[in-house]
Amino acid sequence: MKILITEFMEVRFVEVLKINFDVTVDHDLSANSNELKKIISKFDALIVRNKTQVKKEVLEKATNLKFIGRLGVGLDNIDTDYCKSNNIFVQPATGMNADSVAEYVINTSLSLLKNLPLMHQETSIGNWPRTSIASKELQGKTIGLLGFGLIAKKVSILAKVFNAKIIAYDPFIDSSVGNKFDVKLLDIKEIFQLADIISIHLPLNVNTKNLLNYEVFKKMLKQPIIINSSRGSIINEEDLLRAYDEKLITGFALDVYDNEPVQKNFLNSIKSNTNCILTPHIAGVTEESNTRVSEFIANSVKEFFKL
Ligand SMILES: NC(=O)c1ccc[n+]([C@@H]2O[C@H](COP(=O)([O-])OP(=O)(O)OC[C@H]3O[C@@H](n4cnc5c(N)ncnc54)[C@H](O)[C@@H]3O)[C@@H](O)[C@H]2O)c1
Repeated sequence: MKILITEFMEVRFVEVLKINFDVTVDHDLSANSNELKKIISKFDALIVRNKTQVKKEVLEKATNLKFIGRLGVGLDNIDTDYCKSNNIFVQPATGMNADSVAEYVINTSLSLLKNLPLMHQETSIGNWPRTSIASKELQGKTIGLLGFGLIAKKVSILAKVFNAKIIAYDPFIDSSVGNKFDVKLLDIKEIFQLADIISIHLPLNVNTKNLLNYEVFKKMLKQPIIINSSRGSIINEEDLLRAYDEKLITGFALDVYDNEPVQKNFLNSIKSNTNCILTPHIAGVTEESNTRVSEFIANSVKEFFKL
């Protein structure tokens, strides 16, 4: 059995796989679909993160492929419909990085409420903005979660410790799920009206693409902080900056972007005195989660091939 790994997996678990499989590790293939197409027919299993585009044109060449392991959870880089109709099993590492993302949301909520990006910038150039830049507490604030799946639930548990109030929008789950977590499930308009912090925990699809756009930012009544650790393109990036300039929102944290790595023209359009935190799609990537994700996928491949 041959396995191809195109993105980072903890070495310890690559070695575990080598006991039972013929393993090829080639990270360059994650950005080279043409090369991937040329060699994919040799492999029985493929292990990727979110960079490798496993679309129809690659899968059509993958005549021996039976298993795709995703070292993470979003499946938007994989043509899952094609896999389903061609008997290729797709295994995401569901839940294995949810704690990392939830911590990221709490971290960025606190940092942006306290204006830490601006405090740091000013202090480090010799200014002393002790009273000129405002700082707020998370205690008593309302966090609006868009989507109330695995990660959002973990955010709600952590946020309770800070005595924040949690509301969520997720029409696909029953209100009893909200009750269990002491989270009120509301209409999306109410989230825009009530939330001091809006954190996105949705999949990217035709219904969620461009969900937060200028018209929607205008409906936000409490100048919220916006956090996106889910998928780029759910927020319209140009509209986000416009909303910040017009003080419709008071800060934002982005871990995911329309294009990744984030494009220079977007970065250039962010003014230097913006209360924002930009990170390179690492909300779910910690040393601990990498271990969990890698171990989970290594075990899943072995179980799948009954080894
Ligand atoms: N930045 C990172 O490193 C990182 C790490 C892990 C996950 N993610 C992303 O975070 C997001 C959430 O992950 P999760 O594991 O919590 O997913 P999940 O599937 O557990 O939860 C998603 C929730 O969104 C709801 N939903 C779907 N469409 C909706 C819509 N149109 N309106 C409202 N609700 C809708 C679903 O009912 C579900 O409860 C995903 O996009 C995932 O790819 C990012």
